[in-house]
Amino acid sequence: MSYISIIGGNRLEGEISLQGSKNATLPILAACVLCDGPVELFNCPDISDVRDLLYALSCAGVKSKLTGHRLELDGSDAVPFFFGPELAGKTRGGVLLLGAFLGRFFEAGMAYPGGCVIGARPIDLHCKVLKELRVITEEREDGVFVKGRPRGGKVVLPYPSVGATENALLAAVRAEGTTKIYGAAREPEVAELCRFLQKAGAKIEGVGTSVLRIEGVSRLHGISYTLPGDRIVAGTYLATAAMTGGDVILRNTTGVCMKGIFESLRVAGLTVYRTGDAMRLRASGKRLPVKMLKTAPFPAFPTDMQSQMTALLTLAAGESVICETVFESRFGIVGELQKMGADVSCDKQCIFIRGGKKLHGATVTATDLRTGAALVMAGLAAEGESRVYGSEFIARGYENICGTLSLVGAKMAQTEEYEEKTENRVWQQKDGNCETEQDTSSALRQFV
Ligand code: UD1
Repeated sequence: MSYISIIGGNRLEGEISLQGSKNATLPILAACVLCDGPVELFNCPDISDVRDLLYALSCAGVKSKLTGHRLELDGSDAVPFFFGPELAGKTRGGVLLLGAFLGRFFEAGMAYPGGCVIGARPIDLHCKVLKELRVITEEREDGVFVKGRPRGGKVVLPYPSVGATENALLAAVRAEGTTKIYGAAREPEVAELCRFLQKAGAKIEGVGTSVLRIEGVSRLHGISYTLPGDRIVAGTYLATAAMTGGDVILRNTTGVCMKGIFESLRVAGLTVYRTGDAMRLRASGKRLPVKMLKTAPFPAFPTDMQSQMTALLTLAAGESVICETVFESRFGIVGELQKMGADVSCDKQCIFIRGGKKLHGATVTATDLRTGAALVMAGLAAEGESRVYGSEFIARGYENICGTLSLVGAKMAQTEEYEEKTENRVWQQKDGNCETEQDTSSALRQFV
């Protein structure tokens, strides 16, 4: 098992170059399958969610090469493929392969997707939108299977699911006819997917709004595209600066939309300055408690910042309340912060933070990506030494978090406890070739 060891109590100061956005990259990787030609992506984050999705794509014949942050992808030789549990279960972004492969091959199948332990994360809305594009959709015990050429129509989302909106877009861009998606998610990453698809030749109107109009085209072409910076990683590092009383400048942030995040930091008594491609947070004055903060779909406060904000508010003298409205069980942070001396509890969907107590180092465990990041923040602000287990969750979305934060003065290091696991990861990522023994075609063949 690997963990991050942290010696807390150091003020962070200096500059960090912001990594590319995980949630923008994953759907765009899936979208590459729809392009008849090579795609070149710049600013691609080197995180395990990206590597896992590239591995899944390689199993379906998509070639890729990641050099630094430049990713070359070629889906010319891709084939229809059933993504079994060992592939689909790794990252939630994998569910997007359904819409992309359906759009390209008119058939797709996958086991039920994985992701963080933050809620049930059903895929009923994904299936709903694909049904509304008039393809045959079968939900079986072993996975979801879709078949038929998507045909334009009216797609209605009763809840603005990010992934279901993206799946609808992926299936609709090469569909026959025109599709209108009502109730679409407005997250910046959905708009980014639209812009990528537009550049590749798709016809989409209403980008960034809750009504998207997609006129199907027969083909998309290969392109070069620069991925945006990660707004959640930006929020995490700014909040880390705040927690350690530091002064951190983030570079490479041009165009990164911080709506919902800056507002919440402001309410907590923090100001972020933005000029050119930089954001700067210099902690000064008192950190304030926040009476009530609710997570909700964009442009509200993002659920992906909830755990980090909880950690931050443990240091604000007074009572804060954060209510989680997006995921029903995203509360992994609460018990772990208690181990570090925080007075925090949770009831129903809300977290109650009675802040102002000093945190002390402890051995804690992350069970999801953002809890992991929040525990690192708390460890850096705490007195003494901490161990954060579950660092593999953090690696899903944060590129080299130890190296990055060490650059601005953090004392932290990644430690591997068992060699076996390390060897396994190296094997998986060695050359991107699929070496699993699953029968790739049988599940699709069984499907009518
Ligand atoms: C995406 C992000 C994730 C973020 C989330 C909400 C990626 C790869 N992940 O996840 O980081 O936390 O948006 O901003 O982009 N739901 C259903 N049925 C469905 C689909 C979703 O009930 O078919 C529910 C989910 O259980 C959850 C809520 O809708 O309670 C939001 O999920 P959704 O917006 O789909 O999130 P993801 O796309 O999974």
